[in-house]
Amino acid sequence: MVRANANYGKLKASYLFVEIGRRVSAFQSEHPDRQVIKLGIGDVTRSLPKVVVDAFHAGVDEQADDATFRGYGPEQGYPFLREAIAATDYASRGCPITADEVFVSDGAKCDTGNFQELFAADLSIALPDPVYPVYVDTNVMAGRTGAWNNGRYGGLTYLEANPGNGFVPPPPSHAVDLVYLCYPNNPTGAVATREQLGEWVAYAKERGALILFDAAYEAYIRDDSIPHSIYEIDGAADVAVEFRSLSKTAGFTGTRCAFTVVPQRITVADDTGARHRLWDLWNRRQSTKFNGVSYPVQRAAAAVFTDAGQQAVRTMSDYYLANAAKIRATMQRLGYDCVGGDNSPYVWVRTGSDSWAFFDDVLHRAAVVITPGAGFGTMGEGYVRISAFNHADKVEEALERIKAALS
Ligand code: MLT
Repeated sequence: MVRANANYGKLKASYLFVEIGRRVSAFQSEHPDRQVIKLGIGDVTRSLPKVVVDAFHAGVDEQADDATFRGYGPEQGYPFLREAIAATDYASRGCPITADEVFVSDGAKCDTGNFQELFAADLSIALPDPVYPVYVDTNVMAGRTGAWNNGRYGGLTYLEANPGNGFVPPPPSHAVDLVYLCYPNNPTGAVATREQLGEWVAYAKERGALILFDAAYEAYIRDDSIPHSIYEIDGAADVAVEFRSLSKTAGFTGTRCAFTVVPQRITVADDTGARHRLWDLWNRRQSTKFNGVSYPVQRAAAAVFTDAGQQAVRTMSDYYLANAAKIRATMQRLGYDCVGGDNSPYVWVRTGSDSWAFFDDVLHRAAVVITPGAGFGTMGEGYVRISAFNHADKVEEALERIKAALS
């Protein structure tokens, strides 16, 4: 008889943004006349830059002609894109990363979710609280946790982000095997300094841990002292994998392109003590389960790494950062402490009250969707996250409505 994976039974009923969508749909069907403004899920609203669209069209035209048509591409991504990424995002910052170490994919959500497949079932894991739910839920599905109890899964080490540590928790005092880090952070918007990342690299070396570093929001960093990549820290290429995405950087949430960097030099032992290159394991996984990103999308993505593309990306992230600054200033004027919004498109707002109740209140009184902090973990209780991803006029209107509703 077919039986279900019992670990799915441990999961909370639905994924955070699915639950938010359900509440928003219920509100909209009760109030069809109210125009809802969404500052909830981090979904971009500005169109792809022209340089990207031109390359995308050119890629489609190539697929329309037998002479230039391409079928299956390399599972790891086309060399033209991997080389552009290695040169623009890594060599330019002095990071020891080569094109071979870049794996192109259709999303950082999939990659951060899938990467845990490479590891033993009884691995110990540390992850932030609050946290991007994908890191937790995929490990629950894989059976690496105990039951859900009081807002947490048994067996995980939660790294608590709070005002006392500036929302950048330090390494734990005990050893763990796998550590998920995300900077600029989703959901808090906090950034880690070179010294703080250096402590994590030192911890990983000392304890034999591997860092899974999610840098999906690095394009929003404006403070020059903050590293964009963990590989800006000496020795990180021995102990860290990095995930990046074009979603929030270049407007690819609906187009899909991301990449993961797996340094060739990292090895991991199996239960017999034999060591394997992590690169080989991920390559094996990807070549078995993934057939690559479509050719036109990779052409579009490569345009992001041209001079014109980099300029467009900067303009786009500046636009959302201007929204974030307005969100932060408004919420501070209303008397709320805020983190993020300066090197990140997310503003983390301390409400001091039940975060789902605050979410419902803002939805019902202002018709604005935000994200309840509790959806990201127990340390998110008493907070909400407001996303800067919307058109500037919509953000301004949303803030007017929030002001009217809350003051
Ligand atoms: C978020 O709002 O946290 C993100 O958009 C979710 C994602 O990137 O998957």
